[in-house]
Amino acid sequence: MDAEELKKSKELPRRFFLNVFLGGLWSVATSVFAFIAGAATLAPLFKQDGGQWIRVASFAELGEEPKAFVVDHVLEQGWTRENRKTLVYAYLDAKRQPVILSSSCTHLGCAVRWNKKFQLFECPCHGGIYSEEGAVVDGPPPRDLARWPVKVENGTVLALRT
Ligand code: FES
Repeated sequence: MDAEELKKSKELPRRFFLNVFLGGLWSVATSVFAFIAGAATLAPLFKQDGGQWIRVASFAELGEEPKAFVVDHVLEQGWTRENRKTLVYAYLDAKRQPVILSSSCTHLGCAVRWNKKFQLFECPCHGGIYSEEGAVVDGPPPRDLARWPVKVENGTVLALRT
């Protein structure tokens, strides 16, 4: 073995080690980049909308009997942002506190209607019946009507859309 061959035989493991090290470093760097890019892209899909306080009515508009109000709000789902109108019922309870009920029937989502004569909410789709407080009275609905958290600010009734 001459001097030149000896030198090459020593360089080979060093070069091999360098290639493996750089290859590993490149793999780690690209994996980290892919993870960050993927997380940034998919994050909106898993974003929890914390809800928003939306104006329902002025306090003076509410009475003891449920009254329908159409409220405007923004629905954010993933990357989309959509202006929505939702029907709710609002009234004052015995302590004169505002109550906001969703109009969406808990069976299959049809909009319930207030029946003034019988003092009940009726669902036109499959005959679901709810009390004034939104409790299921009869029919297929599995749960009471949803109650939206409510607060009053400067004479305005606000509901937390969740
Ligand atoms: S959707 Fe209301 S009873 Fe079926």
